[in-house]
Amino acid sequence: MATFIYTKDYSEFKIPYFESSKEEIPKSLYASMLEAYIEQGCFAFQSSLSTKQDIYSQFMSLCSSFGSEAITDASRRLTSKLGTSTKYKLSSVDMEFPHVNPHSETSFSPAKPSLIAFTCLEISKEAASHAPTTLIDGNSLWDSLELNHRKELSSILISYRLAIDIPVKKRKSKIRDWYLDYSSISNSILDYENGKIMFDYYVPFVTEHPITRKLSIANHAFIDLKTEPQILSRKFFQLRNDILKEVTIPSQVLVKLDQQIKTFYWRNGLSLFIDNHRFMHGRLSYDMNQIRNIFIRQYKTLNFNHFS
Ligand SMILES: [Fe+2]
Repeated sequence: MATFIYTKDYSEFKIPYFESSKEEIPKSLYASMLEAYIEQGCFAFQSSLSTKQDIYSQFMSLCSSFGSEAITDASRRLTSKLGTSTKYKLSSVDMEFPHVNPHSETSFSPAKPSLIAFTCLEISKEAASHAPTTLIDGNSLWDSLELNHRKELSSILISYRLAIDIPVKKRKSKIRDWYLDYSSISNSILDYENGKIMFDYYVPFVTEHPITRKLSIANHAFIDLKTEPQILSRKFFQLRNDILKEVTIPSQVLVKLDQQIKTFYWRNGLSLFIDNHRFMHGRLSYDMNQIRNIFIRQYKTLNFNHFS
């Protein structure tokens, strides 16, 4: 498959935008944010609070209102000093790569979150104007494809070989066969020596949204594998005459992807909430010496209880 490369300047995403001058966000504003999230798949919230600790606390309050069952990402080591307890630990989005191609967070594993939330606690002027997050609406991308490409892609599976960091104590036996209680997994091995679980995982290239049932492209097909060390290999397969055949993704799909990219620029106190089953995100290249402290939280499911 041809490699995806960001090609041009992209237009800014017209995101549903909310702000509040109060420390405690009014209930009516929560309802409007939820509505925007369900209809448009994302929203932004600008905090008017001045200290990092206050912005952080307000962000966490928003997170616990919209998300349920927080997921810890073992591959993200850099955490915020503000998050002193495990419950409230924030993980930095900026690992050691200047740009990141479009992807849906952890879509290569059954741990894929439904909701991802980002908050910016500090950013330099330079990074604020040159290091936007990229956003791609996977519903729109799918709808933009020609019928012959949709026909081709709708029967493609992505096969990943993964090595996920887990906390295990070293034992005499270095590895052993394992079982993970999820669908579409095979060849699981627990590696005690390196503290990893390794397995194969299969997912459709195009997926159905669990709530809207709309088809969306929100996967890890376009990511450079150098930027995702948990993926050891990635292949694309199609079932033809009872045989799984390895295939490539048509290059026109990469062109359509590039056409769908929008940008989202960061400011201090700005938060972004994304439906990870619908949207892909990434980052344009920037000077990594610049200050850009953006943190991510991930949630397995949406929390509708708060609004009942
Ligand atoms: Fe990501």
